[in-house]
Amino acid sequence: MNAVSTPGLIDWSAEFATGVAELDVDHRLLLDLLNQLAAAIASDGHGLIEAALTALEHQVLEHFVREEAWFEQVSYAKAEQHRQEHEEFHREIALQLAELHQNSRSLKSVALFVHDWLLRHLRGYDHHFADDLN
Ligand SMILES: [Fe+2]
Ligand SMILES: [Fe+2]
Repeated sequence: MNAVSTPGLIDWSAEFATGVAELDVDHRLLLDLLNQLAAAIASDGHGLIEAALTALEHQVLEHFVREEAWFEQVSYAKAEQHRQEHEEFHREIALQLAELHQNSRSLKSVALFVHDWLLRHLRGYDHHFADDLN
């Protein structure tokens, strides 16, 4: 039996809107890629999961750079904490990919970590941008 539950598909809604139009363009794309990853996890196809994970990870890291540049342009009270959240993701994903390559972690568990972390981040720190402008 597979004890790992597979994530469902999620529509863009107000819970993801940040109030910052240029960042929401990125966030919509990230949500699309999250859904592609969820579909790949559900299909259980190794190659599909790998491709979706690589595409999402690439986009997430590019997005962090754009988002952090935005922190600099506005008076965002949680800039430092938020940057540390992104850093923590960098560290954790590097650790998990190393474990994957050592065969001590499954690809599906890395994919689920990325999926769940990003979803929580989009609904949490990212969604509350507008509240935290000085
Ligand atoms: Fe973001
Ligand atoms: Fe963020």
